[in-house]
Amino acid sequence: MDQDMERAREMIEALSEEIEAHNYRYYVMDNPIISDAQYDKMLRELEKLEKQYPSLASPYSPAQRVGGQPGKGFATVRHISPMMSLANAFTESELRDFDRRVRQALSGETVKYVVEPKIDGLAVSLFYENGLFSRGATRGDGETGEDISENLKTIRSMPLRLRKIIQALEVRGEAYMTKDSFARLNEAREETGEPLFANPRNAAAGTLRQLDPRIAASRRLNLIVYGIGHSEGIEPQDHSDVLQLLQELGLRANEFHVFDDMSEIIKYCLDWQSRRFELPYAIDGLVIKVNSLDQQQRLGTTSKSPRWAIAYKFPPEQAVTTVKNIFVRVGRTGVLTPTAEMEPVRIAGATVSRATLHNEDNIREKDIRIGDRVLIQKAGDIIPEVIAVLPDERKGGEKVWAIPAECPSCGSRVTRAAGEAAVRCTNMACPAQLWEGLIHFASRHAMNITGLGPAVLAQILAGGLVRDPADLYRLRYEDLVVLERLGPKSAQNLLGAVEASKKNSLSRLIFALGIRHVGERAAKILAAHYGSLEALMGAGEDELMVIPEIGPKIAASIVAFFTAAQNRRVIDKLVRAGVNTRAERSGGAGAGPLAGKVFVLTGALESFTRQEAQEIVERLGGKVSSSVSRITDYVVAGERPGSKYDKAVSLAIPILDENQFKKLTGMDYPVLGG
Ligand code: IVH
Repeated sequence: MDQDMERAREMIEALSEEIEAHNYRYYVMDNPIISDAQYDKMLRELEKLEKQYPSLASPYSPAQRVGGQPGKGFATVRHISPMMSLANAFTESELRDFDRRVRQALSGETVKYVVEPKIDGLAVSLFYENGLFSRGATRGDGETGEDISENLKTIRSMPLRLRKIIQALEVRGEAYMTKDSFARLNEAREETGEPLFANPRNAAAGTLRQLDPRIAASRRLNLIVYGIGHSEGIEPQDHSDVLQLLQELGLRANEFHVFDDMSEIIKYCLDWQSRRFELPYAIDGLVIKVNSLDQQQRLGTTSKSPRWAIAYKFPPEQAVTTVKNIFVRVGRTGVLTPTAEMEPVRIAGATVSRATLHNEDNIREKDIRIGDRVLIQKAGDIIPEVIAVLPDERKGGEKVWAIPAECPSCGSRVTRAAGEAAVRCTNMACPAQLWEGLIHFASRHAMNITGLGPAVLAQILAGGLVRDPADLYRLRYEDLVVLERLGPKSAQNLLGAVEASKKNSLSRLIFALGIRHVGERAAKILAAHYGSLEALMGAGEDELMVIPEIGPKIAASIVAFFTAAQNRRVIDKLVRAGVNTRAERSGGAGAGPLAGKVFVLTGALESFTRQEAQEIVERLGGKVSSSVSRITDYVVAGERPGSKYDKAVSLAIPILDENQFKKLTGMDYPVLGG
């Protein structure tokens, strides 16, 4: 090993350890000591080193959480011991019955119980061999599940190596999505007209079943573990020891409490029932387990569930109220979303007076009318929605509602695209779209212009100061200081935030433009691929579709966006205002649309020699490598390709034919008359 490599190896080791230690502090101890930005920086550094020295990258490195290419399906996994479900208790007396049964079976022994939250996610099994994560699976039918290792690896609270080496350990836990991530995911889906997930559990399930681990990574799942399915080399006495041990190993265990009396447990359950909404994730009850593992063993199981545990389920959070009116909100992409205005009711810890009705199909299917008594529920404790109408309570005066034919904001015609449930306003200059577009443009994950809240924005728009996002960069101190509730200091701060946003990364800008179907992740991919807004604007659909994760829908939307004269004008104004349109380049890698991309050439090309093709790639900032590996971005295959072609197929690396290669590199000069 040469000196450089030896140094790299040491750095990779040190960085990995440091990152893992911070992971532990963050996820297990809940006590981070560095900022997210510092953490990300370390991770980027490790990624860079491992890209540079692929042979030094351990599969258990914290930079190797997102595996290469989408898989074709999931392999079946047989569980070592069945993954059972729990018996339920809905009332106090059912809990007391459980306690009686347990004590009777143990004929008078002392019994202690552990009580833990019951997380509303998906049961998963994680297998570690000699301290290293080797496989993870869904519960499936309890006997066999699906191998979802690649998706599980994207969960940062799941360690890839344990903090202590144990011969064999099968851990069981719950993978879930936080309420925040769920709300954001559904918001994005609503905007793009994709079907919404009903609750965080469905969203987590949909995510774990993604064949592309990069999608799973972007959705940020979480994991909390609650037990051991199988182990070799450890001998805990009590379930509380198990939870303690799991934490020491670096896993995030459920919080728990030990009790010796059922009355205390019942009090505890009722207390949680009202406090559950304070948690960042949904729980649907509490699990009560006999603490002694020996007693668990002796109590045994029925065919479906253990006799030593029971789930206390919270009553569902539903309420009945009246729909007073239905109004329409016009979103950033012009989607008209019908919303019910209701008599206020308390549900899931808050007063609710609005519920989304999603779209006109949903209203028609459920036959929701103005004046109806309706049953509402919070989807996963968060978004209130109407589940059903109570038709028996109709008095005859209820009014059928239809989606307007004109935009309620600007009066323009609305259309509904074939195959979509969403109805859209056709006017690009619609004030409601402008409003939502500006809110999006300035939002935290886009241009992050703090101080541009709804109250200020409303005044700016009313004053005719801003007609598109680029106008924000023309605001002057004199314009702002006269606005209500905006003193000299806030005006100055807002101008500062606008100014600072000019230096934002290219990916933020692309996301901020609000191109339909282009979320944060797609924006990052496009920024990295093209290196500049100008290059992206020149891209055609075919070329875009070659990029991993950019499908036909996104590609078409990007091209349509940049074709619209109105959008081009706004971009032109942004450029003239001095907004950054280039991707930052890390040292070493060249600038250019193919910066950071690794190509492998195989077979004979018709239009270029090997050398010429290599020069083209390098001129655009890419690299040409002689062998195919996981870090290869594209394999260019000409006539009679060699074994590299087969390797690319087996690693699912995109293979370009000569024409696709020409398109990607801009070498497809148009042929006149062709
Ligand atoms: S213990 C024999 N503890 O609830 C099963 N389960 O119907 C032992 N769950 O499939 C499970 N939180 O996915 C246990 N703290 C917790 C849990 C929990 C959620 C899920 C689990 C299981 C289902 C039981």
